[in-house]
Amino acid sequence: MGEGKEVAPPGVNINVPHSARIYDYWLGGKDNFAVDRGVGEAMIKAIPGMRYMAGENRKFVHRVARDLVAKEGIRQFLDIGTGIPTRPNLHEIAQRIEPSSRVVYVDNDPIVLVHARALMVSKPEGRSEYISADIRDPRSILDDPMLKDTLTFGEPVGLTLIAILMLLADSDDPWALVAALRDAMPSGSCLAITHPTADFAPAEVEQAVNTATGAGMTLVARSEEAVRRFFGDWEMLEPGLVPVSSWRPDSTVENPEAAYYWAGVARKP
Ligand SMILES: C[S@@+](CC[C@H](N)C(=O)[O-])C[C@H]1O[C@@H](n2cnc3c(N)ncnc32)[C@H](O)[C@@H]1O
Repeated sequence: MGEGKEVAPPGVNINVPHSARIYDYWLGGKDNFAVDRGVGEAMIKAIPGMRYMAGENRKFVHRVARDLVAKEGIRQFLDIGTGIPTRPNLHEIAQRIEPSSRVVYVDNDPIVLVHARALMVSKPEGRSEYISADIRDPRSILDDPMLKDTLTFGEPVGLTLIAILMLLADSDDPWALVAALRDAMPSGSCLAITHPTADFAPAEVEQAVNTATGAGMTLVARSEEAVRRFFGDWEMLEPGLVPVSSWRPDSTVENPEAAYYWAGVARKP
């Protein structure tokens, strides 16, 4: 968005900051408004490495999509908390390796819906679809006709919850919500999670969280133990729950704890 009067797409409130748009701002995108840039900048003041962190989180998406397709044989994904399209999107990475890969994207932010068309440009052999739904109502996702038409529960699913769970308060019981999703997945499915944490830099993260909550947002940094619980009894894949930059990096990482996210992938027995 340029300077001057901002025009809101239908359903989009440009007077309150939204996580999808702030994240888009950090990643250098254009689908954000003054209110998002204001909070985004204030959070960068708290955590100067914020843009780097967003980039490292995004690189994890690329590596995990690649490995789930190439090494775990996953051919279908359920990605909840997709965000504003950022190329390459998950289905583009998966379909580069296996063109028949199918992806169902889910988000509850109207700005993501506005851009969802960009997510639905799939290779003809594969498929990518978008559902507007809320992770706080897992059944509404699992019972959605589009999901049932696109994915088959007769084969493993790659369930990706990338940088979304911190937007749920403890009072929403995100562990129960994730457990409901896990329970619906067939054996051999894989769950990938990234989650911001105060474990590496408590003061910086506390300031960023205070900035976000002061602006009316829900943002919860969680400990390694709290993040581990999201995986239930699924088997953690190598290298386990690690700082996001350390999850199967493409090159040597000098300071893995410079991006304050835990990341891991687990497989359903
Ligand atoms: C920080 S973005 C992450 C985008 C992408 N997964 C990534 O990591 O690159 C978080 C996304 O989660 C979405 N989100 C937040 N709360 C949600 C909810 N209750 N149900 C579904 N999506 C939600 C936001 O709208 C936003 O697009």
